[in-house]
Amino acid sequence: MTMTTLQHIPDVRFADETTWATHGAEWPSGETRRIECCAVRNETHDVKTFVFRCADFTALAFEPGQFITISPQIDGKIVSRCYTLSSSPTRPFNFCITVKRVPGGEVSNWLHDNLHPGSTLAASGPAGSFTPVGLPTGKLLYLSAGSGITPLMAMARAAYDLAANLDIVFVHSARSPADIIFRDELAQMQAQQSRFRVLAVCEAKGDEADWQGPTGRLDLAVLSTQVPDFLEREVFTCGPQGYMSATRGVLEKAGFDVAHYHQESFDINALAAETAPPVAPTSAPSETNFTVTLAKSGKTFSVSPSQTLLAAAKKAGAVVPSSCSQGVCGTCKTAVLQGEVDMQHNGGIRQREIDKGLRLLCCSRPTSDLVLDL
Ligand SMILES: Cc1cc2nc3c(=O)[nH]c(=O)nc-3n(C[C@H](O)[C@H](O)[C@H](O)COP(=O)(O)OP(=O)(O)OC[C@H]3O[C@@H](n4cnc5c(N)ncnc54)[C@H](O)[C@@H]3O)c2cc1C
Ligand code: FES
Repeated sequence: MTMTTLQHIPDVRFADETTWATHGAEWPSGETRRIECCAVRNETHDVKTFVFRCADFTALAFEPGQFITISPQIDGKIVSRCYTLSSSPTRPFNFCITVKRVPGGEVSNWLHDNLHPGSTLAASGPAGSFTPVGLPTGKLLYLSAGSGITPLMAMARAAYDLAANLDIVFVHSARSPADIIFRDELAQMQAQQSRFRVLAVCEAKGDEADWQGPTGRLDLAVLSTQVPDFLEREVFTCGPQGYMSATRGVLEKAGFDVAHYHQESFDINALAAETAPPVAPTSAPSETNFTVTLAKSGKTFSVSPSQTLLAAAKKAGAVVPSSCSQGVCGTCKTAVLQGEVDMQHNGGIRQREIDKGLRLLCCSRPTSDLVLDL
């Protein structure tokens, strides 16, 4: 059998945001839509992929590596969680999330047990800055562990669909060969792209006694043997907190320039702890409050300089979509029509959105009277 190999198309702009700005398909990150599940795929014993389309059949523009926030109703309560789009934006009419069951976890278990083709969910639009946009694409190294493979898979799929023929080494760590997510597809992508290489590192062989790949954890010995030029690569990492700290440590010890290191955390609390803004002092009784006016509802309320706008708006009875409350997910993005705020976000908003006057209410505090587009 002859294997067809993808040919290099020189003018593909993988890291250019205009490549991903599909006209008419924009879904602003704060905007809630209904999405419909059209298929469910078992990836491993505890990981499933859910394929969706917008209920109104519109296309969805996003950048590879971004996530959406879904808000299922579980036991009468709306619960929101972020999930990376594991599919490529080159296929904008249906999109996927790939979810690992977390023992005791509310939403991941609910999705695995209840979401079927035909089910619909509320979701708010793509957010996140863990994307290749604006970054060098010379030589790439994707390092992932467990469900952290999803943003890197979206990037790999996007490069494949664009026939970008990028120089990518994709090193995925799993507990055992049976836990390797997207194993067959990655092997197929490797077979069809001359500059795409996949390596799985398994902690143990599990049931696959003839496993030929490295066993143990990703360390400097494995990295330097398998990817001798890793110091020259742009590194994208996603996985559990312990894995990312260890990986970064290995790279730093080897003299890697951290300016070329990019990581995504799935743990909102860890992420917020890492980059937490200084906590504003509690409002003193003499502190001057500001007046906030909601342009659409006409509601007006008073906010102290130490209160977040999200907390104050909710207290005043305004309906504001929100999820993480940490400046990560982008769900509470709102236009500030008049006035100034102090925003300390954790990556949930892009500079171009800030330039357009949008702010994340969960991590913004007023520094003047305000009019919000709510
Ligand atoms: C930007 C981003 C992208 C993400 N992308 C993905 C992705 O692509 N795929 C993916 O699988 N996940 C992803 N996640 C993680 C996802 O959002 C959820 O955090 C994950 O699915 C767990 O949610 P859950 O509701 O099942 O667990 P939660 O209910 O939030 O529980 C989390 C932890 O708390 C423990 N816990 C829960 N309830 C209790 C209790 N009563 N007592 C003690 N402990 C308890 C659980 O055992 C679990 O360890 C992403 C997160 C972020 C921030
Ligand atoms: S609620 Fe997530 S960024 Fe504000």
